[in-house]
Amino acid sequence: MIKFRHVSKIYDDKVVVVDDINLEIKRGEFLVLIGPSGCGKSTVLRMMNGMEKPTRGSVCFNGKDIGKISEAELKRKIGHVTQQTSLSPHLTIGRNIRQAAGLSGSKERTKKRSNARIKELLKMVGMDPSEYMDRFPSQLSGGQQQRIGIVRELAREPDILLMDEPFSALDPITRKNLQDDLKKLHGMVKKTIVLVTHDMDEAFKLGDRIVLMRHGKIVQDDSPEEFLENPANKFVEEFMGLDRPGKNAEALTVEKVAVKTPITVSPDMGLARATQRMRKMRVRTLVVVEDDETLIGIATARDIRRHKNRSGKVADIVQGDIPVIPEGSSAKAAFEALFLGNAGILPVVDGSNRLKGLVTRSSLAEKLYRVVWDSDDYTKYDSNTNLGAGANLIMNA
Ligand SMILES: Nc1ncnc2c1ncn2[C@@H]1O[C@H](COP(=O)(O)OP(=O)(O)OP(=O)(O)O)[C@@H](O)[C@H]1O
Ligand SMILES: [Mg+2]
Repeated sequence: MIKFRHVSKIYDDKVVVVDDINLEIKRGEFLVLIGPSGCGKSTVLRMMNGMEKPTRGSVCFNGKDIGKISEAELKRKIGHVTQQTSLSPHLTIGRNIRQAAGLSGSKERTKKRSNARIKELLKMVGMDPSEYMDRFPSQLSGGQQQRIGIVRELAREPDILLMDEPFSALDPITRKNLQDDLKKLHGMVKKTIVLVTHDMDEAFKLGDRIVLMRHGKIVQDDSPEEFLENPANKFVEEFMGLDRPGKNAEALTVEKVAVKTPITVSPDMGLARATQRMRKMRVRTLVVVEDDETLIGIATARDIRRHKNRSGKVADIVQGDIPVIPEGSSAKAAFEALFLGNAGILPVVDGSNRLKGLVTRSSLAEKLYRVVWDSDDYTKYDSNTNLGAGANLIMNA
């Protein structure tokens, strides 16, 4: 449908922003253009509808050079949605859509049909037509205006839809809903769509083909599966790793999710003192170790309470037969032991059974939270540096 042949875009004879690109978009494809900021995605997209002219090379639409196609025809056949939708402020939502779709002033019968279509599209993007058709743009939130912008383009029924980061101003839920809708719509009508994003998840979710750009060049042009299985180079790997939640989690070892300084006791300690220690450190479980940190087991507040002889020692109530995890194991293995197995807490041990740390459900959950969502809020709970927080983690386990 659209074909780029050796296309470059150069500003002021020297700033090369698109560098010798060859690209063919086939009918019915959902192609996602992705890459770091400034790599030339929007420029490539704007060359697809003639808004930007190539400095070198040619861009063809259905076999014809885009420079030779009238602006009106391009506008009719190629839809364009950007991050910021501008609606006509003095027209209602219904009229905004109808006008853009070239449906205003048409005959009564077509009007009825187009109204039905507009209503259907509004429902598709989660907006009740009876509530919104007669409102003015200023009476809509930014996200709602953005959805109208998408509906407006779809109502025009262009041959191909170009979308430049259409969802980036939306909240995560609306964004997800619209992605789902767009994917569904594409499945239904097989509309050709080219979408620009820098969100790898969005690319994987929507695209049947992903084109990754860097410094004005195409680095890889493949199916999502190929990107995962055969990334072209280190940059591709990094770009996918950086933006794909879960990818980092695969490399996460148990050390990264463990409390480094768990509260320990020696087996010789009296039960009364052990209870005191638990209260003071606000934990319900102590890790029992010998002087050289060799793990013996755990002592719980419950077992101390149940023990008749108050003058007894920790050694009398220690549970020795407990699950442990060797250092260097994956965090995933710890997750499975804690959440899918029976372990309440999981001591980390070295080859000589010496205590190296402790994984609790909360320490694990918090660390995973940081890896997956990269939140800074959890620095205050850093279990590796803060004993107090570590103690809390054990108590909550
Ligand atoms: N008129 C211009 N003159 C000079 N340089 C320009 C001009 N327009 C764009 N550029 C440069 O071209 C490069 C590519 O811009 P483009 O908008 O295509 O990037 P992008 O990949 O869409 O980035 P983003 O993800 O930030 O939207 C940028 O470095 C930009 O500064
Ligand atoms: Mg851009």
